[in-house]
Amino acid sequence: MVSGRKSGLWFGALLIAVAFLLAQTAGAQSVEQGPPTQLAGHNALLMGADWYPEQWPEDRWETDLRMMEEAHLNVARIAEFAWSTMEPEEGRFQFDWLERAIRAAEKHHIAIVLGTPTAGPPAWLTQKYPETLRVDENGKRAVHGNRAHGSVTSFKYRELCHRIAEEMAKRFGHDANVVGWQIDNEYGYALMSYNDEARQQFQQWLKSKYKSLQALNEHWTTSYWSQTYDNWEEIPIPVGENNPGLMLGWQRFVTYAWTSYQQNQIDAIRGHAEARQFITGNFMGYGFDPIDHFVITKPLTFVAWDDYVGSGHLDADTNGISHDAMRGLKRENFWVIETQPGTVNWAPVNNSLSKGETRAMAWHDVGHGADEISYWQWRSALSGQEEIHGTLVAPDGKPVPLLEEVAQTAKEFADLQAAFHDTRVISEVAMLQDYESRWAINWQKHTDKYDQFAILKSWYHGLRKISQSIDIVSPDVSLEQYKLVVAPDLYLIPEERAQRLVEYVKNGGHLVLGPRSGLKDEFNALLTIRQPGFLAEPLGAQVEQYYALEKAMPSSGTLGSGEVSVWAELLKTTAPDAEVLLRFGKSNGWLDGQPAVVTRKAGRGRITYIGGVLSDGLVEGAAQWMTKTSGVAPALGPVPDGIEVSRRVGPNGNVFVLINFGEATKSVALPREMQSLLDQRKTKEVQLSQYGVAILSEGKKL
Ligand code: GLA
Repeated sequence: MVSGRKSGLWFGALLIAVAFLLAQTAGAQSVEQGPPTQLAGHNALLMGADWYPEQWPEDRWETDLRMMEEAHLNVARIAEFAWSTMEPEEGRFQFDWLERAIRAAEKHHIAIVLGTPTAGPPAWLTQKYPETLRVDENGKRAVHGNRAHGSVTSFKYRELCHRIAEEMAKRFGHDANVVGWQIDNEYGYALMSYNDEARQQFQQWLKSKYKSLQALNEHWTTSYWSQTYDNWEEIPIPVGENNPGLMLGWQRFVTYAWTSYQQNQIDAIRGHAEARQFITGNFMGYGFDPIDHFVITKPLTFVAWDDYVGSGHLDADTNGISHDAMRGLKRENFWVIETQPGTVNWAPVNNSLSKGETRAMAWHDVGHGADEISYWQWRSALSGQEEIHGTLVAPDGKPVPLLEEVAQTAKEFADLQAAFHDTRVISEVAMLQDYESRWAINWQKHTDKYDQFAILKSWYHGLRKISQSIDIVSPDVSLEQYKLVVAPDLYLIPEERAQRLVEYVKNGGHLVLGPRSGLKDEFNALLTIRQPGFLAEPLGAQVEQYYALEKAMPSSGTLGSGEVSVWAELLKTTAPDAEVLLRFGKSNGWLDGQPAVVTRKAGRGRITYIGGVLSDGLVEGAAQWMTKTSGVAPALGPVPDGIEVSRRVGPNGNVFVLINFGEATKSVALPREMQSLLDQRKTKEVQLSQYGVAILSEGKKL
């Protein structure tokens, strides 16, 4: 620690981390243990590949593993699609090949993550037990030959999944070279079965949640359109548009079904595996919505996700949002257990990342909290649906050009691992994301122009440029550590949630609510208080009416001048000290000259309401105002446009990751002398060409 400010920051961060970790349940780590993503006896930063030994003759394994080692890779995830090789017929398990693969990897210092193979049940299984196959909304049963065809609600399927996971854990749960487990893969894209077995479980789940049919009927206002249910068996699985209460109930059940499917395998593994072996899943970033990830990731040791660009190029904000959201699920570092080796095969245009971009992407991941990155995949099978996906090794068994760049980055990871040891991302600003609010808005958008991701991204962009670090977290965690909390569209604000948010404000936080906030309760029914519901009183203002806009309208005030488009809310102040920061210009008559943004001090903090979708310039003005008002400081200091700064904080001080996402070479003046770790020198300035990376440390040693 080199300065009082920084040591204060670290001490503060430590206290926060202690408080948070005490509040955590399963998989809790103590601060001294460091992030759970950094494994004892291994480098802090790891790099690997997803490898499929079952697809290759055994005499090739040695060559592949030697090449991996030469490329400085030190992790391989294997077996997540190898069910038919591990259990070629019911109850006959063959793991000797897997054991040999693990031993061969060990010889090359490559640690193994074992995937349970349940995203791809074998043909014998689905033929013998057709009830294990998913049935779609039209009653059509999945056929064999693809993946994610198992039914999450099939008791038989769960029994067979439990058995293969347990057999794997019995054999490898004490294996020194197996560092952890990945359950399933991408959780079947959350696809559900629409059959009797699923419907009955849904009805049972509703029963346990609502206790009485009377309560359910009331919460869903089923008298509307004669939906009243007289017994639980009448309740359908909603297909397409339905009652908003039923739809939210079903989506929560989807989360429950996949979480208990996951738990079934966690139990199978934990019964036999050593505690040091982690258990994770392979999630899909911010945009993958059907499951509430805050719920499903709770029992896991840490979060892992697969990070693909698809068409086009790495966008610092789009990718940053996914990283920050994945980190926010457990408020801990994470792994990128799959990423793009140049190209994919599933995007509209499978262009390649440019030279240097893959390295920049890897460091971008690290800056946002990744401690491991694996490329999917090492080498593709010679046949199969993904045979022309990007790889690190070509069909002839020789490296593709990208392997050199990956190897260079992996070497940098290894060389710099001491600097990242025990470091985490610590932010002063949080953005709230709530799956249930997102679902509910999307089911009743009111205007097809309402794009929640675009709104989140514009706020993220404005705020991150200033703060250089943002957490994306649930509205239901302790927010104490943040100076500023922005909720772009928190639609569902039940009383309890509102109380916690008010507490945060009273204790000195600044809560900023975006449009559509607080319209609904926890059952997705309208509240009988004007928006933002239970927060209207502390705000000293309320929404009189909302409007889907046909065109943008001018708006101006303390926050600057610009436009409001897509959505606008007519605000009325109800307290004399509520301040209007922006007013609508000429619009539909109702909105003309009316307040668009209102703020008010409450307790030791402040609450602000933004009643519309603001143009980028206004977002920038608002971000300037709210960070200044809340005392948010940039993690590093001002940098030229196009340079992204990320910071990780550890016992030895700050480590900064700077990346140039712009085309032109930029020179960045540093606020003080730092150590540039990639070229081992002290400096007060760095030059970065496109996709150039600088890693700067304030620690004592080079
Ligand atoms: C996903 C899957 C992998 C593979 C890649 C291809 O992330 O988990 O099995 O299909 O996509 O991009």
